[in-house]
Amino acid sequence: MQNYAVRPVNGIRGEIAVPGDKSISHRSIMLGSISRGETTVRGFLRGEDNIATLNAFRAMGVAIDDDGETLRIAGKGLRGLSEPTDVIDCGNSGTSMRLLTGLLAPQRFYSVLSGDQYLRRRPMRRVLEPLARMGACLYGREGGEKAPLAIVGRDLAGISYASPVASAQVKSALMLAGLYADGETRISEPHLSRDHSERMFRHFGADIETGPGGVVVRSGRELEGRDIVVPGDISSAAFFMVAALIVPGSELLIRGVGVNPTRTGVIDILTAMGGSIELLDQREVSGEPVADILVRSSRLKGIEIAGEVVTRAIDEFPVICVAAANAEGRTVVREARELRVKETDRIAAMATNLRAVGVSVTETEDGMDIEGVEQIAAGAVDSFGDHRIAMSMLVAGLSAAGEIAVSNTECVATSFPTFFSILETVAVR
Ligand code: S3P
Repeated sequence: MQNYAVRPVNGIRGEIAVPGDKSISHRSIMLGSISRGETTVRGFLRGEDNIATLNAFRAMGVAIDDDGETLRIAGKGLRGLSEPTDVIDCGNSGTSMRLLTGLLAPQRFYSVLSGDQYLRRRPMRRVLEPLARMGACLYGREGGEKAPLAIVGRDLAGISYASPVASAQVKSALMLAGLYADGETRISEPHLSRDHSERMFRHFGADIETGPGGVVVRSGRELEGRDIVVPGDISSAAFFMVAALIVPGSELLIRGVGVNPTRTGVIDILTAMGGSIELLDQREVSGEPVADILVRSSRLKGIEIAGEVVTRAIDEFPVICVAAANAEGRTVVREARELRVKETDRIAAMATNLRAVGVSVTETEDGMDIEGVEQIAAGAVDSFGDHRIAMSMLVAGLSAAGEIAVSNTECVATSFPTFFSILETVAVR
């Protein structure tokens, strides 16, 4: 068990770059593997989640070379994957498991997906159910709700699916299945979730249409290998954005961050709280918007958060809770029920942890009320095995009255293995 303690600092200052976007890194391996010709990926996130995806495709016969800088994927074409000889271990990664389910359902082989104790507790029927409607043959524990999942590859037929949840994992699983399904596959969702799949499908030459009614994928067209540059992950940048906002005397420039509008909810929320955040040098890289983000310490105030911005900031709520705890007044989060089925129940985990450091939090079924305090107290908390809970509470320690110790911090490696070293470079002691 690894533990880490953070003491208050006198500023967060300097210039940093954060590692590559996790969602885009997963998709680059998946699409590169089923394309024709070579795909190169620079800026790939070498976190445990993405390595799980990389290993899955190696296990299905795809040659992927990594020289430490660039990944070279020898694409096999749509029908070139081979049957894995063992269970595919998705580790902690929901994206690996859910997207792979959609990709494996139409293959002409058998496969089994499993993962760690946390992933095996997460809901999978949201992907299995629509895939079954396409004709897929899938099994899981608890009547198809939980992994391990067994997949007997079959020919599929396109469907029109109105997803009850705004989930990029559900949408992407169906889009991948749609590359193989007879006819067209249409997917709509209550709010637009992150659209990295749509952008990357287009980049690789897939037959895809997007519009206000959702996304349509048509089968029958081979994808072509591409060169991809992965932007910095805004979800990783968010920890340092909040750190710079809440520690007085801070000024931090975060270079090369992906600012796809389906992901910038955290910037909108922190700005609405009074945070000073500027986007500089906005540009486009591999079909994704990118910018440098300048953050200065700010006096934050509590706000109400609900509606479509929740989807656009879904992974950033743990650290948004830390901003709220440091804000003046109450922050109200609603319509965020999805937080209960992330790597852990993030509403319960953040409520428990913030209370342990002197913050008053009321949980509701779909959100929470957080009363801002003058200063967070010192204390000891747990990560609950969730990387984002661990990093959020470490950020809280930077402006607390004393040390915050977090237990079980090894999970940080799933998405942000360089978190601790970057923290050391910007912390002014
Ligand atoms: C992701 C989608 C989101 C997000 C996850 C990554 C993706 O999950 O929370 O970290 O890469 O598609 P949901 O689809 O469950 O909202």
